[in-house]
Amino acid sequence: MTERRILITAALPYANGPIHLGHLVEYIQTDIWVRFQRLRGNQCLFVCADDTHGTAIMISAQRHGITEEEWIERISQEHQHDFAGFGISFDHYGSTNSPENRELCGEFWSALSSAGLIVVKEVEQLFDPEKEIFLADRFVKGTCPKCQAADQYGDNCDKCGATYTPAELIDPFSTLSGATPVLRKSTHHFVRLEALHDFLNEWTQSGDHLQSEVANYLKGHFLHEPLRDWDVSRPAPYFGFEIPDQPGNYWYVWFDAPIGYIASTAQWCRQHGENLESWWKNPETEIHHFIGKDITYFHTLFWPGMLKSAGFNLPSKVHIHGFLTVNGEKMSKSKGTFVKASTYLEHLDPQYLRYFYASKLGPRLDDIDLNLDEFASKVNSDLVGKVVNLASRTAKFVQSTGLSTEYPDDQGLFAQGAAAGDEIAAAYEACDYNRAVRLIIELADRANPFVEQAEPWKLRKDPEQADRLQDVCTIALNLFRQVVVYLSPLLPRLAEQTSELFGTPIEHWDDAQTPLTGQGVNKFKHMLKRIEQKDIEAMVEESKNEIESENDTETTNTPWSDSDQPLQDEPLAETCTIDDFAKVDLRVARVIEAEHVPEANKLLKLTLSLGGNERRQVFAGIKKAYEPEKLVGRLVVMVANLQPRKMRFGLSEGMITASGPGGADVFLLSPDSGAVPGQRVH
Ligand code: 2FM
Ligand code: ZN
Repeated sequence: MTERRILITAALPYANGPIHLGHLVEYIQTDIWVRFQRLRGNQCLFVCADDTHGTAIMISAQRHGITEEEWIERISQEHQHDFAGFGISFDHYGSTNSPENRELCGEFWSALSSAGLIVVKEVEQLFDPEKEIFLADRFVKGTCPKCQAADQYGDNCDKCGATYTPAELIDPFSTLSGATPVLRKSTHHFVRLEALHDFLNEWTQSGDHLQSEVANYLKGHFLHEPLRDWDVSRPAPYFGFEIPDQPGNYWYVWFDAPIGYIASTAQWCRQHGENLESWWKNPETEIHHFIGKDITYFHTLFWPGMLKSAGFNLPSKVHIHGFLTVNGEKMSKSKGTFVKASTYLEHLDPQYLRYFYASKLGPRLDDIDLNLDEFASKVNSDLVGKVVNLASRTAKFVQSTGLSTEYPDDQGLFAQGAAAGDEIAAAYEACDYNRAVRLIIELADRANPFVEQAEPWKLRKDPEQADRLQDVCTIALNLFRQVVVYLSPLLPRLAEQTSELFGTPIEHWDDAQTPLTGQGVNKFKHMLKRIEQKDIEAMVEESKNEIESENDTETTNTPWSDSDQPLQDEPLAETCTIDDFAKVDLRVARVIEAEHVPEANKLLKLTLSLGGNERRQVFAGIKKAYEPEKLVGRLVVMVANLQPRKMRFGLSEGMITASGPGGADVFLLSPDSGAVPGQRVH
């Protein structure tokens, strides 16, 4: 079979935040495909880059008091570090803020302009008069025009689901400055996509380039009517590339981002003495893009339209995947299931996630669920229990003798595994990793009973069985290695360890076709450990804590838009003197015990410490709002000189302070860190 020449991309992550488990579905999916293609002997170039332009990046840099260039450099380092941690084997990782990208954008722009595809129109947009910046929808908030919910984003309401334009919001404000935005006109440049309608119809519906549900979606949602002009410029100030013949206007981030695929290839070519055109203007090169379903429109309409207009290769295939849920829900910051790549790596082996995602990924766009219990049990039972076990139970018995010189009779097991190679390869090729994993684990399922029945651990006690022992281990280890060859796109580290064990590298898919014989076996080193529940728990706990500290800093950037409802519900009290106030002795106290009062449905019984041996028992009406276990250890503010009160359940020797209407909406006051029990509150 002739070698294919394949250029592969994963979507360029936006340089505005960390990589998390949701992103990793795509990078793992793509990396597996790339590693599979390399193993088949195809010539692959896997490129990616950070997507670095746009208002959001300007704002982030400003908030951190650094330049945009410094900001994107910092994020790029983090992203690359995370990707490396998960074994994502890019050949090149670039940035859309590169000279190569600027030049290529110019080339696309000239091509579109010469083809008469650019039109200029006036656009009215909300403008922040203080920051002097046009506001994208997500930088505007206000009251929902439908349900009057406060603090809603510029395009839709969280509370009632209504969608609207930012101009329709009641009392809109800029989230950047708090200023009231004004409507302002500016000039924008548009691509007349409709001129490419026939081409896009044909390209999307040909059956070769897109999953069938994607082709149908495009037909039903966009291609059945004239395509709208696509707005590809933004007026200054904007962090991006200024359009050469349009001073004060910049290419919109979504214009230059996909061109970044080519720019990253150009950088790689420059470093490797290769010619860009041999990749991007060469009918022999296949281009494969991997993306998530949220950016379908850009990659299946705009991007082929741009490539066609500028004379570059069209994608051979755009592979689109669904979203990730964790434990059946959207990733949740408060539940600790919004896990950053770097946090995961502190607790768990990246191969676990690569394996689990692969076992869930099919060729369609379905969302995949990371159920954390299933994750642990699947990895433990398949990888540790069925795969690594084959080697860990046998390798040590042939360390001194090596493998048998001829491959023994294994009742056809190895041959069956070899014959399964084509079917497994077809599943990888079609991105049906779920099927590939099932087929591979079936092989391990057949190999294990062989080892159990042969009982090498018993054979080894009988010197007369030495040859049989060597044969049994030769079979088990070859079946193990065959499975590892097939799994190696998912588990690169296990493939390396296996290569070390036999002193023979796994380099080609066909390594699964021929057993190893007559060679030594190195000392077996530990390969993969079981996932412990406590490691998952620690990862979730750490993710919760990260979010809490993030929220603390984020609030300082948000302008307030607090409702006057609380004051209306409870108007301010009559004036009192400082002496009146001083009569109330407020103290910092620590909750050292907290328990339910079974007979009372609102109360918790708290034991508070004022430092030293000073203890107070207090009954507080906070049962609906707080779990007692979560209170133990925290500091509160108590009224320490309140007349003790005898209650049905015991004496209450004070009161703890809280706000809120009651029930579940009760919020305890806590002092800032540094305060200690016993201190008076003045
Ligand atoms: O959706 C995103 O996060 C974009 N940064 C993806 C860009 S992919 C390509 F077009 F550059
Ligand atoms: Zn609403």
